[in-house]
Amino acid sequence: MIDLALDSPPGPDGGLIDVGGGASVLVDRLLARGWSDIAVLDLAGNALAHAKRRLDKQSARVRWIEADVTDFLPPKQYRIWHDRAVFHFLTDAADREAYVQRLMAGLVPDGHVIIAAFAPGGPTQCSGLDIVQYDAVRIKNTLGPAFDLEHERQEVHLTPAGKEQLFGYFLLRYRE
Ligand SMILES: C[S@@+](CC[C@H](N)C(=O)[O-])C[C@H]1O[C@@H](n2cnc3c(N)ncnc32)[C@H](O)[C@@H]1O
Repeated sequence: MIDLALDSPPGPDGGLIDVGGGASVLVDRLLARGWSDIAVLDLAGNALAHAKRRLDKQSARVRWIEADVTDFLPPKQYRIWHDRAVFHFLTDAADREAYVQRLMAGLVPDGHVIIAAFAPGGPTQCSGLDIVQYDAVRIKNTLGPAFDLEHERQEVHLTPAGKEQLFGYFLLRYRE
């Protein structure tokens, strides 16, 4: 699967938070590329524990946050906020608004948010839960005027069971 975060080189000017990172190997790949300021947040402590075990000693280089993204205090402002297949779970407008508040609190001015979500024409559920599908217009309208859409692309993801899932990837800049 394409990971826009991997296209971004590590820099001294701020880190990356992978929201709903769960057991994803994105963190492993970022560490291997020289990123040193990484946080992984997830609601599920067991998913974080899985990733920590996998990374073994390297896990000490990561800040692990067990929390609901709609209800946490970002410990700092990051240069990149990455979210693959989490925001689309928020079917309630109040939860989306709370998410956007956390997003704005957790990004440096001119920082970037990368969101991957199921696209129109793709699945309407994820892990048995209803989701909201996003195209460029809907993601821009939902995140609001503080965000400029800089890049978008679509990808057909093949699940281990061989099912096709249409994903949209969006890169937006936070203007503050
Ligand atoms: C479909 S998985 C995606 C995992 C990972 N981002 C990836 O692409 O492989 C969704 C993840 O989001 C987490 N999650 C769902 N709702 C959340 C919330 N409100 N706050 C934090 N994490 C959440 C789940 O526990 C799960 O690990």
